[in-house]
Amino acid sequence: MKVGIIGAGHVGLPTAVALAHIGHSVSVYDSDAQRIELLSQGGVPFYEPKLAPLLHAGVATEHLSFTTDPAAATAEVEVAFICVGTPPRATGEANLRAVEEAVEVVARLARNDLVIVEKSTVPAGTALRVGEILKRRNSSVNLRVVCNPEFLREGHAVEDSLRPHRILVGSDSKEALQTMRRLYQPVVDDGARWIATDLATAELAKHASNAFLALKISFSNAVARIAERTDADMEAVADILGADPRIGRDHLGAGLGYGGSCFPKDIAAFKCLADRLGYRFGLLDEIERINDEAVQTAFGKLEDVLWNLEGKRVALLGLSFKPGTDDVRFSPALALARKLLAAGAEVTAYDPQAGPNAQKELSSIEVKGDVWDALDGASCAVLCTEWDEFLELDFEKVRDHLDLPILLDGRNALDPSALTELGFTYLSMGRRAMSPRVPATIEQAAEAIGVEQLVI
Ligand code: UGA
Repeated sequence: MKVGIIGAGHVGLPTAVALAHIGHSVSVYDSDAQRIELLSQGGVPFYEPKLAPLLHAGVATEHLSFTTDPAAATAEVEVAFICVGTPPRATGEANLRAVEEAVEVVARLARNDLVIVEKSTVPAGTALRVGEILKRRNSSVNLRVVCNPEFLREGHAVEDSLRPHRILVGSDSKEALQTMRRLYQPVVDDGARWIATDLATAELAKHASNAFLALKISFSNAVARIAERTDADMEAVADILGADPRIGRDHLGAGLGYGGSCFPKDIAAFKCLADRLGYRFGLLDEIERINDEAVQTAFGKLEDVLWNLEGKRVALLGLSFKPGTDDVRFSPALALARKLLAAGAEVTAYDPQAGPNAQKELSSIEVKGDVWDALDGASCAVLCTEWDEFLELDFEKVRDHLDLPILLDGRNALDPSALTELGFTYLSMGRRAMSPRVPATIEQAAEAIGVEQLVI
């Protein structure tokens, strides 16, 4: 089938390469000429695993092309995906101006019947607006609206596009649903669950999904605060909760909280929608409050262990909002860095991919080219993003690079006993704080430093 994609971002590109991979002919439009030029030459504008090889394959087989001409991207297509950004307004509401513009363009250019797909996350009710534009702008062809929200996770976006656990398609038109089914048939044959529903239900389900995942994270973070006060172990509590299939272990990870371009924005937009509809959804306020508190708690732990922060250097390991991406939007690592800087600390940092983006966003941190430079002489290290590279570090070497052997595990991803054995003061988000054991006898002290006998 011929498919047009409007918007070559974190949603548009993984969708495009996946559709090209299953054999469709996909043309991607973006108004950013530099980005289209880069893509046309085989470059990718952001880090996302597996994106580059699939993009090259799509271009090589001529299933995938890029253009700055909206007419070229929409000519003769059966399906046009709207994948433009919906950034938050100051009020928290999603700004849908780019969606409106994209729909206007497609409606104006359409010369044949086609399905317009809302792929960007939009508040419930948007499809009605889209439908009004289509009717107003073009009555000569049959334009139908579909809501097909994405459930892609950054860092796994290509895999999630190729093998989603569910494909949600909402429309009030039976023909449009049939067109979408034809489009996705290879993915359904591969095991994805097909869910067809109406427009309003699909729109609401997307918001509800993200809010529920954020709720799980905030719930864990709140329980972590109690674990810290009762000497319980949050990771064990999360494992026990997650062992119940009705709850599930995913998104129960306590730590610095959620960031990224989805949860913070979507919760704010969902709150605005509820308010506008006259329902007070106070639970959403609590999700946000607990999430903000997570970073504040980490900051408090650093203040507690380092006392006065002025002039002290803290090394942040990881700057992206999660591993597998160079995206730093609403990154908890940067929120923590801002608090440290405001308290007079110096912040050095290293991230395998997100260094340049973080430096652009926060010029007063010192982003280093490797992990050892970031750690050198720092009073303590904080694991902010659980990249594999950090989990596999030689922690003896980490200890030797630091001025003080103090480590805050902001993602509860490291082994507390192993680090304590190495002499670290291990701090975490809801696990027991552990300090190296002080030898009780002179024999134990001799053993700890590896000599046969100590003479006083
Ligand atoms: C999220 C959803 O998981 C996707 O299903 C959805 O399609 C996407 O938003 C979207 O709306 O576009 P994403 O933001 O890429 O995807 O990543 P997640 O893996 O959900 O992580 C979000 C944040 O929560 C990250 O900062 C991560 O570190 C944090 N997190 C995640 C935790 O703090 N604890 C966890 O247990 C899991």
